[in-house]
Amino acid sequence: MELSDLQDIARKERESQKPIRVRCCTAAGCLSSQGQAVKSALDEAVAANGLEDRVQVIGVGCMGLCSEGPLVQVDPAGTLYERVEPRQCASIVAALDGGDADANVGDTTRPFFTRQVAVVLENSGRIDPERIESYIAADGYHALHTVLHDMTPAQVVETIIAAGLRGRGGAGYPTGLKWATVAKTEADRKFVVVNADEGDPGAFMDRSVLESDPHRILEGMAIAAYAVGASQGYVYVRGEYPLAISRLQTAIRQARRMGLLGTQVFESPFNFRVDIRIGAGAFVCGEETALIRSIEGHRGVPRPRPPYPAASGLFGCPTLINNVETYANIAPILRKGAEWFASIGTEKSKGTKVFALAGKITNTGLIEVPMGTPLRTIVEEMGGGVPDGGTVKAVQTGGPSGGCIPQSALDTPVDYESLAQVGSIMGSGGMIVMDEQDNMVEVARFFMEFCMDESCGKCVPCRAGTVQIHRLLTKIRDRRATDEDLATLRTLCEMVKQTSLCGLGQSAPNPVLSTLRYFPEDYRALIGAPSEPSANGAAPRTA
Ligand SMILES: Cc1cc2nc3c(=O)[nH]c(=O)nc-3n(C[C@H](O)[C@H](O)[C@H](O)COP(=O)(O)O)c2cc1C
Ligand code: SF4
Ligand code: FES
Repeated sequence: MELSDLQDIARKERESQKPIRVRCCTAAGCLSSQGQAVKSALDEAVAANGLEDRVQVIGVGCMGLCSEGPLVQVDPAGTLYERVEPRQCASIVAALDGGDADANVGDTTRPFFTRQVAVVLENSGRIDPERIESYIAADGYHALHTVLHDMTPAQVVETIIAAGLRGRGGAGYPTGLKWATVAKTEADRKFVVVNADEGDPGAFMDRSVLESDPHRILEGMAIAAYAVGASQGYVYVRGEYPLAISRLQTAIRQARRMGLLGTQVFESPFNFRVDIRIGAGAFVCGEETALIRSIEGHRGVPRPRPPYPAASGLFGCPTLINNVETYANIAPILRKGAEWFASIGTEKSKGTKVFALAGKITNTGLIEVPMGTPLRTIVEEMGGGVPDGGTVKAVQTGGPSGGCIPQSALDTPVDYESLAQVGSIMGSGGMIVMDEQDNMVEVARFFMEFCMDESCGKCVPCRAGTVQIHRLLTKIRDRRATDEDLATLRTLCEMVKQTSLCGLGQSAPNPVLSTLRYFPEDYRALIGAPSEPSANGAAPRTA
């Protein structure tokens, strides 16, 4: 494969486009609500009307507004149909040349769509994730060609440093610096790994990117491998994501067949092989050292750092490990330049961030906004606020490692520093909205139950501490706690935070501490009150 071949594929793909394209979402959210039946019904209606020459039905990835799915959008008119049922497809096809269809037309001018800036999701909902030609026609693999033929590995690393990209897996570590560390470590074998374990409750960004645009991740990995000197890559995906896994497998097969992965990529001396490893759904396996153990075939348990994976990772070799969304930003940075990327976002948080909006919010789904966008814009404008005129009580960001941001702090810009200042974190991008009906003690208890269940048990503070914190929260919830219990809760939270071995234990108390800080009245209302049966009707237990 040479550049001219790539350009040929792109040209043929564009020329083969029919004048009218009906894009139909075939990502997990829409597939779970009859999306496949909708696509088949659209295909049938086009065939029944003899429109195959002019009309093309394309299965695409997520269009973002998952709560209104299955979604269908018609190009070039741009008409968006929501909650489409198979029986409506004949009328949608009948209306392609004008007229009204018997289906719900969505408003594409609402802020949910217009306030987005698509970098990571630029192809999502537009290209067919199961056809490499579709990705190539959207400029796919051009950045990889440029890198291999016109840039040295050091120049690639410099570009990522200049762009200011920070890891999207949670901690926000500068990606370019991590690449530079792996690049400068001398070794015969190095690895690049994609962390697609995504276990936070409420988060589905990485799954969606893999389902909607899998080649983007492969291209990002190949560029990273060239930059750091690796020849083998692994994508570690959780087993609960079967569609993401199958689309990745298809993408790897296609890229290999075209000579975009494997030996002598783009007729260059660069060799790069990618394999998939499937996780069994343990949250702790998202922690990088546990993930590495799991790929090695052992039980996924964290180990102390240093040494960091960049120095000694998979099989003791230098290993670059980045999140799905981090890799998804690589090809656009190389295509459009570091300056372009650095011009989006804030001074210290560059680029965009994808968020999964869930909970008590009108528009549930995926959005991508520039870093620094106020939380209020995301929740109230784009998300449409709480349904039925309710009010936002809190927004939980960062999953079990994060915290609850109160209504009064909704003007906080969403970037790494500002979220930390209000006691939460960016995390991987889950955002759960709560309203006045939600009790924050119950919310804290939910996240602590998750951490308690997912603790690997290796170190005592986390293994025993999460259980004790959960017991105290249950005691408070059941109105059996005293002021002393509340003081013990605080002490325990600080202790678990400071003495746990890995990020799971170190961050597990965050939802408790942030709710104690912002919603003391929810705790106070339950303390010192007369004993009552617990919310689920069970008799109170002794802690
Ligand atoms: C308990 C725990 C779970 C984690 N889960 C994930 C995950 O699902 N995906 C992810 O990318 N990073 C996860 N991380 C962070 C990773 O350890 C690591 O920092 C990240 O993959 C680095 O990539 P980045 O620099 O691109 O963010 C988790 C960390 C902890 C402590
Ligand atoms: S902090 Fe928790 S999850 Fe991490 S090593 Fe210790 S017990 Fe395991
Ligand atoms: S899954 Fe179809 S719009 Fe998100």
